Amino acid sequence: PLPELQPYAGPTTIIDVPSRLLMGPGPANAHPRVLAAQSLPMLGHMHPPFFKIMDEIQAGLQYVFQTNSKYTLMVSGTGHAGMEACIANLVEPGDTVVVGNNGIWGARVVDMAGRFGGKVVSLDQEAGKSFSYEEIKNAVETNKPAVLFLCQGESSTGVHQNLAGLGDLCRANGTLLLVDTVCTLGGVPMLADAWGVDAIYSGSQKVLAAPPGGAPLFFGPRALEKLRNRKTKPASYNLDLNLIGDYWGWFGSRSYHHTGMVSLWYAMREALALVGEEGLEPMWARHQKLHEDLWKGLGELGLEPFVQNPDDRLCTVNTIKVPEGVDWAAVVKNAMDTYSVEIAGGLGPTVGKVWRVGIMGYNAKPQNIALVIEAFRDGLKKQGKL
Ligand code: GLV
Repeated sequence: PLPELQPYAGPTTIIDVPSRLLMGPGPANAHPRVLAAQSLPMLGHMHPPFFKIMDEIQAGLQYVFQTNSKYTLMVSGTGHAGMEACIANLVEPGDTVVVGNNGIWGARVVDMAGRFGGKVVSLDQEAGKSFSYEEIKNAVETNKPAVLFLCQGESSTGVHQNLAGLGDLCRANGTLLLVDTVCTLGGVPMLADAWGVDAIYSGSQKVLAAPPGGAPLFFGPRALEKLRNRKTKPASYNLDLNLIGDYWGWFGSRSYHHTGMVSLWYAMREALALVGEEGLEPMWARHQKLHEDLWKGLGELGLEPFVQNPDDRLCTVNTIKVPEGVDWAAVVKNAMDTYSVEIAGGLGPTVGKVWRVGIMGYNAKPQNIALVIEAFRDGLKKQGKL
């Protein structure tokens, strides 16, 4: 006889989710057209109509990355899966990896690259600052790394990393340039081919306005050559780009590696269609303009940027110094309770020091910026700070 079954303790009612405006560092709200695409009928992950959607995604990614390389795909997983896919495939045991470490993402790559056998050189920088070309040049020429990692948008500190000239520097030193664009792709310029970037990963849930769970990825020809000529298999089967690439048609055929994230790839296809409809330059300009509007409003409240150098300020994730004597968590709570608006606190090196406001994709609209400024005004007023 069967033992007595454990009683059901899960939900029985229809799901109910509050409506919130997500103005933190992500996930941002997904575009309604993107959410609608997710509810379309399921296809098999090896069905030709689904392959067509995968092809469309790859073409869309070529545009957002600004590359002619056909080696683009979506990694099934969040930005961390994209990060780990790049590290697992580009780093062979014993390879030197120079990691630009000025926030939480650099720190994670230091950890991850070590796990895959890399000899990690952490190029450390104070939170709130980017790396100068000279600092990077010195680290690359001294260490001649197999891979140089930089984060274009350090969402924990609100720092934008300039990538100009680094492609040439890396080529001259036999180094692959790997860039994290999780919180930047679509919001600030990324010109993969023109800048000589070799590999990039991103996330679906930020500027691209899709739900979390997909990591756009790009490999240029030099990164692909490294992948194809590895002496050892990548230590992760799940993230082996020789195998995932073969599912996405990189090598002229298609074979099963894992079950593609069918509904999420519909969403990504739609998210990329929206990027194509608007165009990258208007998107970049929209994010920049709203970043300026946000700071104008915050400045009128006496709030100041955490990032000192204006050239280092990221427009997609804005870090705002918490003034002396202000309870930052109370401001966050008030924004949620009163306005249903998410404003985030700090992360990693900025915990307790900053608030973070995201300006991303579908949420990047003047009325949302105005609401965020109002939420700050109200939150500070309730503490007697205005
Ligand atoms: C996540 O991406 C964050 O910056 O909080």
